[in-house]
Amino acid sequence: MQNSSHPRVVTVAAAKGGVGKTTLAYELAAALSGVLVDLDWDAGGATRMWGFDPLSAARAPLLDALERGPEGRAPRLKRRPNQPALLPAHPDLAASRIDADLLSDCLGAWAAAWEMPYVVVDTHPGANPLTDGAMQVADLVVVPVVLGAREMDALEAIVSDYAGYRLLLVPTMVPPVPPRRFVERLAALAGGQIAVAPPISEHRWIRRRLRRAALVTQPNPGVRVRAAAAEFRAVAESVEVACG
Ligand SMILES: Nc1ncnc2c1ncn2[C@@H]1O[C@H](COP(=O)(O)OP(=O)(O)OP(=O)(O)O)[C@@H](O)[C@H]1O
Ligand SMILES: [Mg+2]
Repeated sequence: MQNSSHPRVVTVAAAKGGVGKTTLAYELAAALSGVLVDLDWDAGGATRMWGFDPLSAARAPLLDALERGPEGRAPRLKRRPNQPALLPAHPDLAASRIDADLLSDCLGAWAAAWEMPYVVVDTHPGANPLTDGAMQVADLVVVPVVLGAREMDALEAIVSDYAGYRLLLVPTMVPPVPPRRFVERLAALAGGQIAVAPPISEHRWIRRRLRRAALVTQPNPGVRVRAAAAEFRAVAESVEVACG
């Protein structure tokens, strides 16, 4: 576990939507006893998964805190047992024209003020100033990778676009028989230069799951939850190693 005076910022990002960013960010934040920062303004993201309706808040705590700037008070976190501490998203983030540098400076200052070992940031898919800012301040950028043809094409573009960031690739939604040509393509792309985490299997029940507590912190988990949680914990260990 990291020294709380040097929190690590871990940003989960991907060019494509629906590749498991939010699920991964949520479980990593819980496994690492970290803060989950939700920068995805779309409905159905981490904030809703946590059990908070972003539409119920008149103002976005993130936007208020950005107005105060990096010297100002850090936004207050939402807390609940067996869930990561949350800085919620808000629909106003969509049209907010946030400056990437301001977000980066503020996230760095807030990470220190929150005094938690990790800050895990979930992002909106594709390039946007919020994601850019969260990547600038990140000690590690975690990229979920689905082993499919189009997804691997997108990954090639990401690896060149994200050059200069410390990356951890996480194979996810991996079927029981992993498609060998994509496994090989991933290995070739990483080339020993980019860290690759242990895979997360395809767990179809995750899509239909009603209970939204983090898998890694569920008390008395059933067999399948235990198996999935072990995979997410193994990725969290890779994050700790990659953060150094
Ligand atoms: N390992 C997995 N196995 C099976 N389904 C998964 C897995 N991880 C996530 N899912 C499911 O896939 C869907 C997309 O996941 P998630 O919302 O985490 O992706 P995302 O990249 O954040 O999407 P978006 O781009 O819309 O924000 C969800 O229904 C989720 O429950
Ligand atoms: Mg998402």
